Amino acid sequence: MVMAIRNIVTFGDDVLTKKCRPVEKFDDRLNDLVNDLFETLYKSGGAGLAAPQVGILRRIAVIDIDENPIELINPEIISTEGSQTGAEGCLSNPGKYGIVTRPQKVTVRAQDRKGQWHEYTGEDLLARAFCHETEHLDGKMFMDLVEEWVEIEQQ
Ligand code: NI
Repeated sequence: MVMAIRNIVTFGDDVLTKKCRPVEKFDDRLNDLVNDLFETLYKSGGAGLAAPQVGILRRIAVIDIDENPIELINPEIISTEGSQTGAEGCLSNPGKYGIVTRPQKVTVRAQDRKGQWHEYTGEDLLARAFCHETEHLDGKMFMDLVEEWVEIEQQ
């Protein structure tokens, strides 16, 4: 198995504004893409990465917070609770952080690379990542939700 680092497209590229299509084939190609997304995420030091950020218009995202890798294929947010307001960034808008209000607790339903459905519930940063990455799949960018831009050293 060969994994590859993919190029991350940055804000301004049209691909980030498109609605992604559902994944229908759970094949080797999907497996390779999910592996590449994780590799690219780890290389970049972010919390999450969505397929359109590497130019692929499919409903796929990966998240890893506190060494807890989660692959989200065809994700749907099924419930949210509370709210949190804090700094958020995006690998497609490097070095820029903005204050965004998100739900405090989010439950998402998604398939894995084999097509099995799972439900994940996350709070704090994980809840934020579920929202941010799912929105990428609908062509939405977090900057449209930013209340105020902030300077921080690292996310
Ligand atoms: Ni992002």
